[in-house]
Amino acid sequence: MSSGRADRPEVRVFAGPESLARAAAEEVLVALGDALGRRSRASWVLPGGSTPRRLYERLASQPEALDWARVELFWTDERCVAPRSPASNFALVRDTLLAKLPLAPDRVHRLRGELPPAEAARLYAAEVAAELERGPFDLVLLGLGADGHTASLFPGPGPVPDGLAAAVKAPFEPRRRVTLTPAALANNRRLVYLVAGRNKAAAVARALDPDHRAEVVSDRIVPRGGTLWLLDREAAAGLSRSRER
Ligand code: 6PG
Repeated sequence: MSSGRADRPEVRVFAGPESLARAAAEEVLVALGDALGRRSRASWVLPGGSTPRRLYERLASQPEALDWARVELFWTDERCVAPRSPASNFALVRDTLLAKLPLAPDRVHRLRGELPPAEAARLYAAEVAAELERGPFDLVLLGLGADGHTASLFPGPGPVPDGLAAAVKAPFEPRRRVTLTPAALANNRRLVYLVAGRNKAAAVARALDPDHRAEVVSDRIVPRGGTLWLLDREAAAGLSRSRER
């Protein structure tokens, strides 16, 4: 499997949302399929937000492409809302993936947004610790906000949350969040960012510029292996060379 080195991420640029979602689905299937070929189970940490919706729908449309019953699902972060709320990251995955793929309920590791945030973080940290005792996450998929945040880790002067999961405050609604920490997110065999839209171009350019990447929170997630960035043309607009596929 190709991957960029930790200090030189691999970047692939796609013309639009469909080709981006197709490439992302391929990445997910290869990473998880490869893991299932080697072990009895595979683990995937997935993001919320709007960008991954098309990816999830595409995966749901080809259920035979993977033995989904052996996949463990975790979330990068959650908004502190009820699971039925349209703002819930769990709800996005429930409606697009869980409703359509044969995922095993006991392998779906939901972050409990309806609980007091510190309690939800404590419970999730224990669940993630148990998973990481078995080995790194096979795939961590992350989005990027226009301000450079990823998961619910926001840029700024505050301390970097430690442990494996933390209750945090976002600078915009929904403010109360629980997020995996950089240490947890970095514990992976494969790290992929999926980013689309012109409003992300400046954050992407900073994240991929060695002189500026410390300004975006993605810099705090130091993976063991390389990082792959899957971008649409608009999110890549601030990059100097054309890398479109
Ligand atoms: C969330 C996320 C978050 C997201 C980015 C990008 O709960 O909002 O997990 O980190 O990935 O904000 O979101 P969009 O895809 O909606 O731009």
